[in-house]
Amino acid sequence: MFENSLAQAFSSHFKRPPQFSVSAPGRVNLIGEHTDYNEGFVLPCALQYKTNVMAAKRSDSIINAFSLQYPEAIEHFDLSQPIEHGLYPWGDYLRGVVNELLKAEHVISGMDIVISSNVPQGSGLSSSAAFEVAIAGLFNEAFGLGLSGPQMARIGQLAENNFIDCQCGIMDQLISAEAQFHSALLIDCQDLSTRPVAIPDDLALLVINSNYPRKLADSEYNERRLACELAASTMGISSLRSATMTTLDAVKTQISDKVYRRAKHVVTENARVLKAADALQTGDLNTLYSIMHEAHLSLKHDFEITVPATDGLVDICMQALNNKGACRQTGGGFGGAVICLCAKEDVQTVIDAVEAKYYQQFSLHADILRCEPHRGLTVEALDKVA
Ligand code: GLA
Repeated sequence: MFENSLAQAFSSHFKRPPQFSVSAPGRVNLIGEHTDYNEGFVLPCALQYKTNVMAAKRSDSIINAFSLQYPEAIEHFDLSQPIEHGLYPWGDYLRGVVNELLKAEHVISGMDIVISSNVPQGSGLSSSAAFEVAIAGLFNEAFGLGLSGPQMARIGQLAENNFIDCQCGIMDQLISAEAQFHSALLIDCQDLSTRPVAIPDDLALLVINSNYPRKLADSEYNERRLACELAASTMGISSLRSATMTTLDAVKTQISDKVYRRAKHVVTENARVLKAADALQTGDLNTLYSIMHEAHLSLKHDFEITVPATDGLVDICMQALNNKGACRQTGGGFGGAVICLCAKEDVQTVIDAVEAKYYQQFSLHADILRCEPHRGLTVEALDKVA
């Protein structure tokens, strides 16, 4: 249905049928926060929310694109000219990805593109990474670039780093490119190797968006990254991946308490991710829940990226679940969403508790999304299947 209406929108706007259909999902992270840009471990899973793209090649160097979400904002630019920022914020993600492909000297030409996304924006579910990966997947297929999932993810990340000026790591793009059905993916952000970890059918995955306004999120994010880099360079290592609490404690007097706590979060979080992946794999949910709780406390006290609204959501859910589940801040922080894992039969208890208490305490409405782990990037050449 969704695909048909996108194909119709393409045909009625561009007066010809689309040749490619691509889709890439948003994500939620189970555990492993702010470890990706420290070459550490993460355990995200892709969701049923996706960005869908349909497109057809052009014989010139022009890119025309529009999104069903912003039908008036038509993107139009020429690949033979330097790629600059455009009029529309959403279009800059497209420009950023195309720009990285050109910088890497991939041979591409013009394209007509229509986009539609049901990844909720501003909820911390990585709608922008889903879009970047869909665009990288489209050009990869259309021009036979031969890029692997990790290479496409890197293109998306570089678009964020270089064009959007967000110094994010690679987690969001990599899970969007590589996720497998019914599974989370343990990612080693040093060598980008992955291991799927099945999510049991009876485990519910709730994402609760705090709707707290994320004001200083980007500058605070970049500041956290610098603090981690400072801690690593003081230890004489290239990233916190190889740090241990012993090597960190050895430089404690040379760094501020703040920088020490940022690094401590990363070192302890890497260990938690590995333990959590094993606990999920062996069905040891009690261990998984307690590690997730520790992870939240580490984000709250050491990395300091939670806000009263997300801490409040965690408290409300944990109280409602009474040790039969876990809830923690997920994603970059400074607002955004919490993830709650519990038995499917306890979902209503959580929803009731959030509805009864969250608005009353924080004067904000929470959006509660029941999520399913889904597969990553899919690409289809329509003329081949016709
Ligand atoms: C954002 C970034 C990711 C990652 C998380 C925190 O989602 O895009 O690269 O750093 O924050 O874990």
